[in-house]
Amino acid sequence: MSEPLNPDQPPTRARPSGAGSGELEASRRTIEPIPPGAVPVMEADHISKGFGATTALVDVSLKAYSGRILALLGDNGAGKSTLIKILSGVFPPDGGTLRFNGQDVVLRNPAEARERGIATVFQDLAVCELLSVTRNIVLGREPQKGFGPFKFLDLKKADAMARSALHQLGVRWERGLDEKGINISGGERQSLAIARAMFFGSSLLILDEPTSALAVRQAGKVLDHILTARDQGQAVILITHNFRHALSVADDITVLAQGRVAGHFRRDETDLDALTDLVARVG
Ligand SMILES: Nc1ncnc2c1ncn2[C@@H]1O[C@H](COP(=O)(O)OP(=O)(O)OP(=O)(O)O)[C@@H](O)[C@H]1O
Ligand SMILES: [Mg+2]
Repeated sequence: MSEPLNPDQPPTRARPSGAGSGELEASRRTIEPIPPGAVPVMEADHISKGFGATTALVDVSLKAYSGRILALLGDNGAGKSTLIKILSGVFPPDGGTLRFNGQDVVLRNPAEARERGIATVFQDLAVCELLSVTRNIVLGREPQKGFGPFKFLDLKKADAMARSALHQLGVRWERGLDEKGINISGGERQSLAIARAMFFGSSLLILDEPTSALAVRQAGKVLDHILTARDQGQAVILITHNFRHALSVADDITVLAQGRVAGHFRRDETDLDALTDLVARVG
């Protein structure tokens, strides 16, 4: 994992006003510039991708840094999900390079991306409905007890890991950890998925539309958890259709239009009107 930016002088962090309880508003804070020479956790360099006759991405480059949230904006079909699938090892690009912590990487599958510390939360696949809260969090790294062929889940340890993951993210979980995924709300599912991603030491957290199906209050909570992930040094890429959400939490913004980069901005260099105009003009 690369060093957090400005470790001696943590920048003032924006929190969505009234997160978890009310209206989200763009903060007026100034965003720290990226220090010269800082190495991105993830860099996509001149990426292209087509599906048959459809050109999904052309010459797309972006950089995601530790301790910063990069919002990826764009209209339907702009290529956002295609790009994050490439960053998550779902499929390879046709052209271009990915660099992870400064090294060229080829991600052959999602498991390889996860092992490197790239955690992606897909909206519809965030949580297994039939598994408990605990099992959802420790999924794939279940602590075991017993010997030889008599190994089984160490539930006490698993519950403690789940509790610690939720605590680390600031999630107040008041129901049982044995509650099944099917019984928990969309917002809670996103929070659990983020807790799982963070607990296993990822350095890049990618979220595809985590707030799109949520009411204002739940969206505020999820955005707050995303800010917590950033404050703990993760690089975050947040895909959203909601420009207000992007402006309330992002440090950097990349706009995609018809598979191309329409602009890179620091959050305090742009505003809602400028972004809306840009997407209307080029989208
Ligand atoms: N597996 C696929 N096979 C064929 N075409 C695809 C595939 N995935 C995406 N596309 C096409 O690539 C283009 C970009 O799609 P993508 O899903 O990346 O857009 P998006 O920005 O995520 O859109 P949305 O905001 O609607 O989620 C679209 O024209 C889409 O139809
Ligand atoms: Mg998409």
